[in-house]
Amino acid sequence: MFDIYPLLWPFLRRLDPEEAHLLALRALSSGLFPKLAKTDPQLLAQELWGLHFPNPVGLAAGFDKNAEVPDALLNLGFGFVEIGTVTPQPQAGNPRPRLFRLAEDEAVINRMGFNNDGAIAVRGRLARHKSKPGIIGVNIGKNKTTEDAAADYEKGAVLLAPMASYLVVNISSPNTPGLRALQGRDALSALLGRTKAALKTAVPENSPPLLVKVAPDLESQDRKDIADVVLANGIDGLIVSNTTIARPASLRSAQRNETGGLSGKPLFVASTEMLADFYRLTKGAIPLIGVGGIASGADAYAKIRAGASLVQVYSALVYKGPGLVERIKRELYYLLRRDGFTQLGQAIGADHR
Ligand SMILES: Cc1cc2nc3c(=O)[nH]c(=O)nc-3n(C[C@H](O)[C@H](O)[C@H](O)COP(=O)(O)O)c2cc1C
Repeated sequence: MFDIYPLLWPFLRRLDPEEAHLLALRALSSGLFPKLAKTDPQLLAQELWGLHFPNPVGLAAGFDKNAEVPDALLNLGFGFVEIGTVTPQPQAGNPRPRLFRLAEDEAVINRMGFNNDGAIAVRGRLARHKSKPGIIGVNIGKNKTTEDAAADYEKGAVLLAPMASYLVVNISSPNTPGLRALQGRDALSALLGRTKAALKTAVPENSPPLLVKVAPDLESQDRKDIADVVLANGIDGLIVSNTTIARPASLRSAQRNETGGLSGKPLFVASTEMLADFYRLTKGAIPLIGVGGIASGADAYAKIRAGASLVQVYSALVYKGPGLVERIKRELYYLLRRDGFTQLGQAIGADHR
């Protein structure tokens, strides 16, 4: 299909980034994107956690924070969509401007600060989706001023797990003070123990898998601790990674020194190396979702070979538009076939063998 996004881009890039994002949400909710007639090739399909993923390319958290348009997003060809981050109480997030395009670097910096409608409102929207097909993960976090962080994750689990295909504990946003400290061994162990117990109470049978999303800025000892705690607590998967607080020397855009988390191209290498590290540390025992800087089928393939069972994208959509999803799948299919794989699952972690 002819991709009109390159023609729209000169206009879109003149809009304030947050206004452009709101416009995208509005376009998606207006029904401009009907379901594509195409079905995904069997080679890209996978069963994980008892769920059928028609393809491994998902939308990362932060695009549809409030579950306003998950069905329209699935219609773009994503194999799954992750909504959130959702906190128990609604909150406004940081003052604007808080979202910056680094166009020369194909990157984004954001310091949104978990702006969202809160768990009750989001739960209502997800309830309306529940009878429809499609995998929707729910990413939960804590409110900015909550002292007992684990209590917020418990609340999130109780309210949202019944509506989630999978649940993600997000402890890696750089824009909520103290959040990333929850990645330390003892804090993480307590947090995951309590969240898991709340999840089991809320959904005693067939409870959704519980995943943890980590930062790309972890030292080697932190990575080992997280892998140990995750395996010891029976956590079902890891998402590697969130945005980085690092500012690589290669950045050229004027906005490169804005405070917040950096995503897109400059995050690709570091997040893929960390993904490979977590694959080694968890010995392939749990599925990993690779995210950070994916902008092509080759990037997605590199994450899969490094150990990802699934991948997610966000920033590249800003620069390449919604046609990117089909393009990534097409290229990935070609690369898997080229290398003799007859099923996606065979390629997971191939670089380690
Ligand atoms: C504007 C923006 C908002 C984001 N909000 C969230 C969020 O609420 N929760 C979360 O877990 N990750 C959030 N992320 C991080 C993405 O989910 C993803 O981990 C990161 O952007 C790296 O992927 P990318 O390089 O493909 O963008 C956000 C990213 C961006 C650009």
